[in-house]
Amino acid sequence: MDQRARALAEKHFGISRGELLVGGIPVTALVGKYGTPAFIYDRKVLDEKLDALRRALPPQFSICYSVKANPNPAVLRHILSRDCGLEIASAGEFCQAIRAGCPAERILFAGPGKTEAELELVLSQGIGEIHVESITEAKRISEISRRLGVRANVAIRVNPAGEAEGGAMRMGGRPAPFGVDEEILDGVLDLVLADPSLEFRGIHLFTGSQILDSSVLVSQYRHGLGIARRVAQRRGQPLRAVDFGGGLGIPYFAHESELDLASLRAGLAELFAPIETDPAFTGTKFLVEPGRFLVGEAGIYLARVNDIKVSRGKKFLILDGGMNHHLAASGNLGQTIKRNYPMALANKLDAPPEEFVDVVGPLCTPLDTLARGVTLPRAEIGDLFVIFQSGAYARSASPLGFLSHPAPPEIWIDAGHRGVHQGLAKEQRNELSNLAIQEHTSFEVVSGLREEWNGLVHSQKLGPAQSYEWLSTLWDLHKTNRELLILVVRDEDGITGIAPLVRETERRKGLQVRLIKMLSSFHALHGTPLLLRRRKPETLKLVFDHLQKYREPWALWFTSYQVGDEQEAQLCSLLRERGYALSTARGVRSPFQRLEETWEDKLKLLQPRFRTALRSREKRLRERGKLELRFFDTDTQWEQGLAAIREIEDASWKVQAGTAITEQDFQWHFYSRYAPIAARSKTLRIPVLFLEGEPLAYDYALYEDGIYYLLKTSYKSKWHDLYPGFVLRKLLVEWTYAQGGREIDFLGKDEDWKMKWTSQLREHRDCFIFGRNLAARYLHGFHKLRNLLKPQE
Ligand SMILES: Cc1ncc(COP(=O)(O)O)c(C=O)c1O
Repeated sequence: MDQRARALAEKHFGISRGELLVGGIPVTALVGKYGTPAFIYDRKVLDEKLDALRRALPPQFSICYSVKANPNPAVLRHILSRDCGLEIASAGEFCQAIRAGCPAERILFAGPGKTEAELELVLSQGIGEIHVESITEAKRISEISRRLGVRANVAIRVNPAGEAEGGAMRMGGRPAPFGVDEEILDGVLDLVLADPSLEFRGIHLFTGSQILDSSVLVSQYRHGLGIARRVAQRRGQPLRAVDFGGGLGIPYFAHESELDLASLRAGLAELFAPIETDPAFTGTKFLVEPGRFLVGEAGIYLARVNDIKVSRGKKFLILDGGMNHHLAASGNLGQTIKRNYPMALANKLDAPPEEFVDVVGPLCTPLDTLARGVTLPRAEIGDLFVIFQSGAYARSASPLGFLSHPAPPEIWIDAGHRGVHQGLAKEQRNELSNLAIQEHTSFEVVSGLREEWNGLVHSQKLGPAQSYEWLSTLWDLHKTNRELLILVVRDEDGITGIAPLVRETERRKGLQVRLIKMLSSFHALHGTPLLLRRRKPETLKLVFDHLQKYREPWALWFTSYQVGDEQEAQLCSLLRERGYALSTARGVRSPFQRLEETWEDKLKLLQPRFRTALRSREKRLRERGKLELRFFDTDTQWEQGLAAIREIEDASWKVQAGTAITEQDFQWHFYSRYAPIAARSKTLRIPVLFLEGEPLAYDYALYEDGIYYLLKTSYKSKWHDLYPGFVLRKLLVEWTYAQGGREIDFLGKDEDWKMKWTSQLREHRDCFIFGRNLAARYLHGFHKLRNLLKPQE
């Protein structure tokens, strides 16, 4: 067996009865559960590497993990828990970092060719630092920052003049797309320093990857310090940060040996000792951004031997995975001569080497060779083949789409005091998609979204009051002294959520406070704080973070939600996580009735007295003359329907009570404007009960997706004794059953007449979320005090 493989198995993982263990679990058991091919990452190894690196670095150093090496969410979460920041190279990685829980200010963005959209996304989210790679990029960052009204923290990535020796992949010292050539650094620096939208923080050097010679690293850092000193002098003050990049290597091949951390430590200690008292570096933070060194050794790749064949005297083991999962091991990434990674038969570690074989993957290309001429124990179909040193640039740098095999699962093993935790980082599947947020301040601008908007509302069954048409009609009536703010969050697959918001200033407790309301809160049927379709918790978070950071700070957010609704839980957990204070008040309890039985059975379920009353009242009314229920629902009828409503309302008891629809301008305006829209979409229902041609009672309702939404109802008071409202209700409940409807939503409060029909209620809660500025704290303090002084019930 390959001695390097055996040494790695013993050093990091363990062997039992000839079988490789990870976290004490035999790998056959792990793949028995998760299948092959698979990657396995061991938390313990990662920690050992991180601890070893920390010991080698001078104490002034901090570590930012380079996400490109392995963006697995479990890996990111763990590294974040160990007090590291993250270095990213794309919007996709940015989103992965955020999703893993990384605060935006702990993220650095390096890499050539950042697009406008990427820069806009990260700047709008408050990224910690962007590493400028060219003059064009500096100007682009400045322009976007100005547009967003933010100041961008930038460092300049320098492509040093001296050749950096010893790395397998050199990224400095010669013509390169990475960074700004040291020779023109002064000019770029002056440009950045003069730009008020850019906050210059320091320099970044990254000169190579896979460096195994500590003296090369020390000499690179020395060179970096020299550049930093010159920049500090030109600027006239010390730099905030000097970033030496990653590049620390791990041994893959027989001729390589481990990076000597003891001599790295000694070399850096000597180099940085005088820095402590050097005024050119007062307050300067030093940083490295390793990827490979931290995660490379923590990962293994496992694939099963699926076929064994001999061709013209040469034996091939054919695995169920290959370069599509592990391009690097096939020698097609960063190698000029194909060399074999440390590898073995994971279930035959103690068996003697017997055969000389090539190990290949299942792809139709001779490039898909994982091992050429390797000596292994005699293999059988079903054996497990392991490739060590596979935690970095393995899955993340492979053409997963090539030949359309499934992507290999990744198993995270965390063996601790409380046993072994194992699991798949399932979110991985969607990791590459990113979320972006756009702001709009008028409905006209988003009219192009109408279809997508309504599609979202429909697919999530949010009901008519969240439709584009309902909300834009509502906005038209509530414009005065308010601003509209529609936030649209999307990823590559389309809209993930919409926040239709309104901003206004209100006087509260003697203070002018900025307030955010859901537009729907002016006339919602049910509380639905945001319109969410997919990736709901992240979308919610993005909306709040965006408003907190990039809009003027708001003191109060008002919305209402349904108790027990999915969004209640998401909202509350977000508020806890982000540290917002919340106050809630009981909202309306609105009755609804699911139509699960037949109308005949429903009648039997009603209270006997109520049932008898229904019958007798309808009969009495019918005895008075011709009783008719007519619907005014279409494009040509809605105006007649509204005329009947007006006539009934003018003669209704609600006029005295002040709740008649025509008395409250807003409602009349809203419903009359909405009627033709609803008629066009065929959801309008205006049933009117006529007696001898005289309208007695009406409903203004919407019928959508099998649900009868009862928005408004009334009757003429002079007919009170004949109970026209009562009879209308009976006819309409019956009508809904006859339509094959699913539900009658009585909406509004739990009034007695509704509760005769149902006992089902939707509870709502009104909620105030306190922002994080001074005004909000003051209001929250006031609120707490009032609660304290309130007599205890
Ligand atoms: C800017 C930058 N930082 C950090 C790294 C991580 O390098 P390594 O994994 O060799 O430590 C890379 C790798 O390409 C990089 O480009």
